[in-house]
Amino acid sequence: MISGNEPEFAYAVALVLHEAALIDRYLITSSKDTVRTLRRCYFGMIDGWELSMLSIRSQSLLQFDPAVALTGVSFGRYSAHAHRGMAQQTGAYLPRHFTGAKRGRNFMLVCISGLLGKAEVADFRQLMDAHDWEDGRSTAGAQSALVKQNQQLPPDSELSRTLGNRIISALTANPRFLSAAIPLRIFPPLFNRYASTQGHHFGIHVDNAVRGDYLTGLRIRTDLSATLFLSEPDEYDGGELVIEDTYGSHEVKLPAGDLVLYPASSLHMVTPVTRGTRVASFFWLQSMIRDQHARSMIFDLDSAIQRLVERLGRDDPETVKLTGIYHNLIRYWVEV
Ligand code: NI
Repeated sequence: MISGNEPEFAYAVALVLHEAALIDRYLITSSKDTVRTLRRCYFGMIDGWELSMLSIRSQSLLQFDPAVALTGVSFGRYSAHAHRGMAQQTGAYLPRHFTGAKRGRNFMLVCISGLLGKAEVADFRQLMDAHDWEDGRSTAGAQSALVKQNQQLPPDSELSRTLGNRIISALTANPRFLSAAIPLRIFPPLFNRYASTQGHHFGIHVDNAVRGDYLTGLRIRTDLSATLFLSEPDEYDGGELVIEDTYGSHEVKLPAGDLVLYPASSLHMVTPVTRGTRVASFFWLQSMIRDQHARSMIFDLDSAIQRLVERLGRDDPETVKLTGIYHNLIRYWVEV
């Protein structure tokens, strides 16, 4: 199937095909949704390896069998994407009509609903409203400082740390978050506020690759960015978090207490708030699995296994084997 002398790559594909054979055995007993998810994992794994090879080898070294290309794995769809020149439009806002959620197979945009309960959100808001706020640019990098206009709680204030720790406690007790992020280190959460009266917004930017916290000495590579919404959508107009990736633009505005995880490598922005006030927490994390495609596949595989466990039981032999594959894939990719 693969020509060229790339033993590691060939091994990786052989591994995937072996897993696929196992996955195919599930076609008989599983629902269409689960089959679809498992198939997506399979093709996505090939995809992920293809992409990582793409980054270190020239395309000419790899020659795929045409049959593989027919299954949807191809180089073409990456180059076919029209990027709309957003990177050149630093500081510009996205027009409203860029709202299509073209979720890619490997794009890691995960929403976690109800991370905080409504009562806890109200408590957060009460404590935050009573506190002093500062210019949000104190935590921005050189480029993002040019396009950032908002306020934030002083990052080293006791309130920020206390509320941040409450968020981290909620995160580490949330199975969906742990499965999606596979976190190694979480940066102390920060808090911001966008007021319509002051024309607050945050233009297009990319987050710093490394964040350091001088209070704790913690230093992380930012693999994932997170926004935890602390205002209800009907409290404000505008203020959408717009995330741009190779598959298009994704507009996110969630109920208070909900969190969105997205790749820190993406260009993103917060559109101007035109009514009311938007309050949120934001932070970054370093994942044990650096490669976002690998991480996304691991998440999908875990989700599919959990659904199979519900139907077949935790001690079903094939479920046990798939669980083993899940852990072995993590072992293959993990950095701790
Ligand atoms: Ni950002």
